[in-house]
Amino acid sequence: MSTRSPIRVLIHGASGRMGRALLRLAAERDDLAVVAAISARGDALPEAGAVPVLPAARLSDAPAFDVAVDFSLPEALAPLLALCRARGAALVSGTTGFSAEQFSALDAAAAKIPVLWAPNFSVGVAVLAELVRQASAALPGWDADVVEAHHIHKKDAPSGTALQLGAAVEAGRGRAPHYASLRAGDIVGEHLVQFASAGERIELVHRASNRDIFAHGALHVARAITRRRPGRYRVADLLD
Ligand SMILES: NC(=O)c1ccc[n+]([C@@H]2O[C@H](COP(=O)([O-])OP(=O)(O)OC[C@H]3O[C@@H](n4cnc5c(N)ncnc54)[C@H](OP(=O)(O)O)[C@@H]3O)[C@@H](O)[C@H]2O)c1
Repeated sequence: MSTRSPIRVLIHGASGRMGRALLRLAAERDDLAVVAAISARGDALPEAGAVPVLPAARLSDAPAFDVAVDFSLPEALAPLLALCRARGAALVSGTTGFSAEQFSALDAAAAKIPVLWAPNFSVGVAVLAELVRQASAALPGWDADVVEAHHIHKKDAPSGTALQLGAAVEAGRGRAPHYASLRAGDIVGEHLVQFASAGERIELVHRASNRDIFAHGALHVARAITRRRPGRYRVADLLD
């Protein structure tokens, strides 16, 4: 059993699909202590238990924390980033749909605090991206398409993961793929990368059936990043 004090975590976007999974899974760990849960409205949350839930307007009232784990909306980034910088706390964000200016703001903050942004925290997608890069390099003349499907409430398209896989296609052969997005029902997340030529086709597919895989990954890197110096990190940098 560890004798270290638990790492103090702020969950940002706590009432969302991801936020509630993070609260539930963090409560099962003794190496992490959630000290505050932030949502836009700050409504009471059963998953928060005794953890205080604050509305976004009272973000600056949050108690001391070591790392913020953010799955919210792009417009919520600026105040959270400012708070993390002011407190010298790390930021782990899985929020998708950031603008180029917002990614620049993450880079600027990384001069002062450890920052990790990832469009996907699953190990399977990390491996898929490498397979896609290899296939793309081996099939330079083939058509490449990234097709993604998510639940009806997802706001951004293509998904952050689709763009990550598209970047892997481009890294392999120097050209971006075409994208297609489906929004339907309660699909957690499916990504197909298809390479097609006259008479043959290769399909590489990842299907997430449970968003706990993303929450587990985010909590794992949240713990690891608190021991790091300021800078930008990737999930692969923080795997054991
Ligand atoms: N990287 C990954 O592995 C991964 C996996 C899944 C999802 N995501 C991304 O994570 C994000 C959240 O997804 P989700 O499905 O959990 O969304 P969601 O269910 O719509 O939840 C959004 C959360 O953000 C909160 N919020 C909205 N505006 C806010 C503000 N100004 N300040 C603080 N909190 C605010 C909402 O609070 P209220 O309830 O009070 O409105 C809610 O708690 C999306 O960008 C999604 O694409 C990433």
